[in-house]
Amino acid sequence: MPWDKIKLNDGSEIPSIAFGTWKLGKGDDGTGFVEQALDAGFSHIDTAQAYRNEEEAGRAIRESGLSREEVFITTKYSGSDGKDIEDSIKDSLENLGVHYVDLYLIHGPSLARPDIPTAWEQFEGLKGAGLAKSIGVSNFNVKELTILLNSAKIKPTVNQIEFHPYVYQQQKPILDFAKEHGIVIEAYSALEPITTRPGGPVDKPLKKIAKSKGVAEEQILLAWAKAKGTVVVTSSRRKGRLERYLDAGNIELSEQDIKAIDEAGARGAVAYRIRDWGKRCACVAAVGAFVLGMSYLSGVELY
Ligand SMILES: NC(=O)c1ccc[n+]([C@@H]2O[C@H](COP(=O)([O-])OP(=O)(O)OC[C@H]3O[C@@H](n4cnc5c(N)ncnc54)[C@H](OP(=O)(O)O)[C@@H]3O)[C@@H](O)[C@H]2O)c1
Repeated sequence: MPWDKIKLNDGSEIPSIAFGTWKLGKGDDGTGFVEQALDAGFSHIDTAQAYRNEEEAGRAIRESGLSREEVFITTKYSGSDGKDIEDSIKDSLENLGVHYVDLYLIHGPSLARPDIPTAWEQFEGLKGAGLAKSIGVSNFNVKELTILLNSAKIKPTVNQIEFHPYVYQQQKPILDFAKEHGIVIEAYSALEPITTRPGGPVDKPLKKIAKSKGVAEEQILLAWAKAKGTVVVTSSRRKGRLERYLDAGNIELSEQDIKAIDEAGARGAVAYRIRDWGKRCACVAAVGAFVLGMSYLSGVELY
């Protein structure tokens, strides 16, 4: 079976591809896109307090005719509206119309207030109370995961992070650390090389491999993320694309294919870092020029 379930360190199982609701909006549109994904065959919905469409996701799940056990629901504590962790999960459960979520994540390390150990202890309490079957984190680096593990009674099951060929080298220490501690990596924005960074070095091997296999480029990127052992969290408003994403679970990449994508990703990462630095320098220069210009016009001398 293409996108098999993966065993988490607390004994639960997670479907290895998820449909994410970020950017899908509210109202009928939001509900419709989740319904479409469930209809296409997705059984794992990834939402968050911050996406403001948990209600829409919940409605789509109820209207799908699938039982609660057939859909794996992830949501996240995003610190929205100044609410604490306990109030937030209660709101999320009400919005989703369920008694528990399958996975509850701290959306980012800066939301772990007043500190990571205290916030994680509260997450452990939610699992104990049965409000979340599994608990995990998102966007944590090795240092933050180490702080968490030093006080944790329950290990996080997953760390959901940005993951695509252009950040692979940068994220590798987190992948290695997670593997060592039995934490599953969830990959978001796996399609970045074609969505927001087209024209980079990954294009060439991607096109070549996709052509040789007669599949779409986005399918190769998902197959690459799968080959790295991650749970892929992706999205689309188009049914045909959703079906292709699911079919991508059948694509076997060779060692050579994976190496070609890894190497192109590493080359692109350097190019993008230089570009980002260039942008930052240009920004600093523009601010400097503005300040100098204003001081000249107002007659203020700067030392
Ligand atoms: N934890 C976090 O901090 C965090 C951060 C970001 C995302 N996430 C989660 O991850 C989910 C997915 O994030 P993402 O949207 O960044 O993921 P993604 O899987 O990289 O991108 C999905 C987008 O790719 C577009 N796409 C697919 N194939 C394409 C092609 N060949 N050409 C152009 N566009 C193409 C789709 O557009 P169409 O709709 O037109 O098909 C869709 O909007 C989110 O919904 C959210 O649940 C979590």
